[in-house]
Amino acid sequence: MHAFNPCLVPQLNNTPLVGVHIPPVQKTHLASRTWEIKGQICYSGALIFLLVYLLSKPMSNTRKILVSSALPYANGAIHLGHMVEVIQTDIWVRFQKQRGNRCIYVCADDAHGTAIMLSAEKAGITPEQQIAQVQQTHISDFNDFHIGFDNYHSTHSSENQELANLIYTRVRDNGHIAERTITQAYDADKGLFLADRYIKGTCPNCKTPDQYGDNCEACGATYSPLELIDPISVISGSKPVAKESKHLFFKLPDFEDFLKRWTREDHLQPEVANKLAEWLEAGLQEWDISRDAPYFGFEIPGETDKYFYVWLDAPIGYMASFKQFCEKTGENFEDYWKADSDCELYHFIGKDIVNFHALFWPALLHDAGFRTPTKVCVHGFLTVDGKKMSKSRGTFINARTYLEHLDPEYLRYYYASKLNSSVDDIDLNLDDFVQRVNSDLVGKVVNIASRTAKFIQKSGGKLSATIENEALWQKFLDANKTISALYEEREFNKAMREIMALADAANEYIAEHAPWSLSKQEGNEQKVIDICSLGINCFKVIMTYLKPVLPATASAAENFLNTQLDWPENIDFLGEHEIHPFKPLMTRIDTDKVQTMIDASKEETAQPAIDPDSWLAKEPIANEIEFNDFAKVDLRVVLIKNAEHVDGADKLLRLTLDLGGETRNVFAGIKSAYSPKDLIGKHTVMVANLKPRKMKFGISEGMVLAAGPGKNELYILEPHSGAQPGMRVM
Ligand code: MSP
Ligand code: ZN
Repeated sequence: MHAFNPCLVPQLNNTPLVGVHIPPVQKTHLASRTWEIKGQICYSGALIFLLVYLLSKPMSNTRKILVSSALPYANGAIHLGHMVEVIQTDIWVRFQKQRGNRCIYVCADDAHGTAIMLSAEKAGITPEQQIAQVQQTHISDFNDFHIGFDNYHSTHSSENQELANLIYTRVRDNGHIAERTITQAYDADKGLFLADRYIKGTCPNCKTPDQYGDNCEACGATYSPLELIDPISVISGSKPVAKESKHLFFKLPDFEDFLKRWTREDHLQPEVANKLAEWLEAGLQEWDISRDAPYFGFEIPGETDKYFYVWLDAPIGYMASFKQFCEKTGENFEDYWKADSDCELYHFIGKDIVNFHALFWPALLHDAGFRTPTKVCVHGFLTVDGKKMSKSRGTFINARTYLEHLDPEYLRYYYASKLNSSVDDIDLNLDDFVQRVNSDLVGKVVNIASRTAKFIQKSGGKLSATIENEALWQKFLDANKTISALYEEREFNKAMREIMALADAANEYIAEHAPWSLSKQEGNEQKVIDICSLGINCFKVIMTYLKPVLPATASAAENFLNTQLDWPENIDFLGEHEIHPFKPLMTRIDTDKVQTMIDASKEETAQPAIDPDSWLAKEPIANEIEFNDFAKVDLRVVLIKNAEHVDGADKLLRLTLDLGGETRNVFAGIKSAYSPKDLIGKHTVMVANLKPRKMKFGISEGMVLAAGPGKNELYILEPHSGAQPGMRVM
């Protein structure tokens, strides 16, 4: 498609073209035929110049863009949070392709690190087996959501190892790697240095137990894991020890000036640039890029038992995936990555990984003699119904669970209708989701075609060449510039609003002319066809504008319309054109399916439920206590020597309790459940060391134990026979 005959280029500019008009439809035909017969037309005069001009024109405007989404970790399932990012990226990429740009979309699984090593070990497989299995599930999830990667690779690949070694050795040879011995927590049982999240202990600041190694969830204090009180290794349960080892650091502070400039050169959203300015102002730290064995990753060249930290080779994975694409397709790697490349490079990422992409990554690339990103596009996090995704609420929804219940295009559209170019979080409100998709896509867009197609079909399936309402058609053409600019700027929510406004206009036009009524009167045949043809043309334009968001529906629409939905600057009216019979393009979302999906997401992580009618549910078990606290309570077996009513007390009985040597006077609130004669002579259990309490009727010297909610439902304890007064209960 991009082949070009250089011998013809110089004649281009001299070719008189004034007054030559070729309708756009024919342009495409000529263009494709030209390639088939290229050898024969080399000498056929003026026509050649014209053709070359037509062919070269779009090419001179063709941008070359390499795009990535962040690489998902190879130890977990893809969920609807990840889908925000890949759907955003995929829409942008599909838009660029549809506009005729050369746009290549790469991604990969992020396969390295301790977490993956440990999860493979737990599953009893090798890390290689684990990452291969997970990659298959990631790829099929993405495929089923119509994510059109041009290449999907793994960071555990030969391409990535070569590139990581190359970048590291260049940076090292430039003098930007420092060596230092550091002291870290070490699990001696496991033979493993422990990252902060693998250590737990009591916060040195507020003394809350069970806090992770770097910060306290209770008081927010940050500290080093070696400062935790009673630390334990989450992996083996042993007490970590402090151990020294040599680490390698990338000297990020050497790039402060470069980064201060780069972060202000329009590669970032303003709010991201501002955040980075704060970090840059606070001063940059050297970045620890090595990890000790055992580690699942690449060994660092020239070192023994040292591995690249997962975040060193992860972004290089973008290059590696593209390298593999080049090997498969013949695309030129250098073209895209050389320092002075005029291709564009776009990284789409979430707000949690900005420092890696907007500080470390550009500095590394710059130092190693490669180009830096054109734009790092940062998005916010997904919330569901206004809250963080939650396993117990069933809103932590895996991509696969969604796909088992709902059409991927619903979510693509909903995300598009919420996404913009800011870093704000986006909310998947489940009621709004159902309502918006049903009303916009089914109620507005598909409705245009379903209301008009039958009249065209009835009269033979051919559209009319008459533009029945020029103003309406012009409105659809005029929207082209605005909508394409909004896609380009990643203002998808605004683009969707513009498109829905067009759909409203088309529906109003159809409703106003009511072809269903017109067709009932004689002599209106042509009028009905003209109106419905304009309706179908409007539908075509809308589906053209929606194609990046709804690739499957657009493809069904292409079938129905019997044409490709390209997106040139000037969209043409179909004219006299035959269309195919209309089949429903999309069905309404069934609310029940959304609920089933939520229930299924709950099931996957369900806790054993407590029966809501149980006593445990009515009174949950109290906070855990230490044995020592329990041992402070001295429980004794006693004989109830006497029991009697207390004058003036409606709830109390006075008990005389024999402890086998001393007697106690205890007032017990059990009058509603027991009469005194039923108690005398029985054994029970009392709290013998409870501080005596002065009551209205005298001093109570302890307490008897009873179960039950109160009133006549109270049951005092009675030991098995053989227990003697004064025996301690433990
Ligand atoms: N492996 C790293 C990225 C390396 S890129 C060289 C990583 N992986 S991840 O699986 O945790 O996340 C992948 C992407 O998904 C990140 O951009 C992250 O911000 C995004 N999201 C993960 N959870 C998300 C939400 N809940 N909402 C929106 N995006 C989120 O980070
Ligand atoms: Zn604390």
